[in-house]
Amino acid sequence: MSRRIQLFCCRVEKKPRDTVLILVLCFARIHPPEFFKNKYAVDEAHYVTEISNVLALKKPAVLLTLRGVNTDSGNVSKEASFEGISQFNVNNKILHPEIAECRVIKTDMELEVLRYTNKISSEAHKEVMKAVKVGMKEYEMESLFQHYCYTRGGMRHTSYTCICGSGENSSVLHYGHAGAPNDKTIEDGDLCLFDMGGEYYCYGSDITCTFPANGKFTADQRAVYEAVLKASRAVMKAVKPGVSWPDMHRLADRVHLEELTRIGILKGNVDDMVKVHLGAIFMPHGLGHLLGIDVHDVGGYPEGVERIDEPGLRSLRTARRLQQGMVLTIEPGIYFIEHLLEQALQDPAQSCFINSSVLQRFRGFGGVRIEDDIAVTATGMELLTCVPRTVEEIEAFMAEGQSRAKSFDCLSGQKQ
Ligand code: GLY
Ligand code: MN
Ligand code: MN
Repeated sequence: MSRRIQLFCCRVEKKPRDTVLILVLCFARIHPPEFFKNKYAVDEAHYVTEISNVLALKKPAVLLTLRGVNTDSGNVSKEASFEGISQFNVNNKILHPEIAECRVIKTDMELEVLRYTNKISSEAHKEVMKAVKVGMKEYEMESLFQHYCYTRGGMRHTSYTCICGSGENSSVLHYGHAGAPNDKTIEDGDLCLFDMGGEYYCYGSDITCTFPANGKFTADQRAVYEAVLKASRAVMKAVKPGVSWPDMHRLADRVHLEELTRIGILKGNVDDMVKVHLGAIFMPHGLGHLLGIDVHDVGGYPEGVERIDEPGLRSLRTARRLQQGMVLTIEPGIYFIEHLLEQALQDPAQSCFINSSVLQRFRGFGGVRIEDDIAVTATGMELLTCVPRTVEEIEAFMAEGQSRAKSFDCLSGQKQ
């Protein structure tokens, strides 16, 4: 029987059928190959200098190497190579879709790591919520999150650059990048939208908490927050194997439109708003994405699954039907983004639904996102994230954090 051989330099993925995993050793301290064979549970382990000879002795029908485009980032993963590879029949096309598919459905061991990254990252978010004070810089919160993840969880890396937007910055979807490095001072009355996730053994987490910097929601902040929470919980209730992810996005959009109408920002018939894609003005991103080794994990658009070219939906990083073992984020949000609001106000098909005098009150408000990580189970879902979510939970939690901080300061003689 001819065998496929898959080469690894440092990370072992799940094993496709009829494939022999060979680990190529390139570590500073030289352990015997047996050590790595056991540690990484591969079939064989050899020193890198032996690769050509070892493979030649096996006379493989084909060597599979990993090359392909990530449908999310557009980045190309480049295949492994070594001196002497030209003597083999190498195929760099078969493996990529197979590996991507392996990564979409998590094993129990992968789920265990993802539960851990979520547990520690949830705790770190709570630490931040307790510590935040008006007058602090956004980056102090980023730093505290990272410190907690590393010291308490051994999580050296985050799965993406922390997004710590306060005030109007909370409506900037990927705020926190080098051009806007979480450097605003947090002000009284600001909403904080902190999107941060720690990573462990290459597996990520992706959690967003939105809360008032001073610990107390205003009436408008509460109304928008509860609208997003309603969308989040409606999706969680509907999630189960077989459900289409674009339908979950549509569900969240509909809840947002209903709630924005109830608040008074929108007026008219929600079905008609859906027809003109009004939801995408307030939530211009996708509802959520696959999560794993990459924060926006691979496998979102396998052959046969097409991107839906409509506002909002086209930003979805997957349009698949859900299957047991998938891990995804659920991250609805409502944002007041100036240029999108202007665009809607200038489009008669959309502006007829907008109550501009009420909307005026929300300009400069920023945005709310609630992002949780979930695993799809046989009958529904498992919530991996554990942070205060309702307005009451958040206010009580922050009040407790602030009173703890006060008593600590009293003990050290530093009265506030
Ligand atoms: N933190 C990036 C995202 O939510 O997708
Ligand atoms: Mn996020
Ligand atoms: Mn996300």
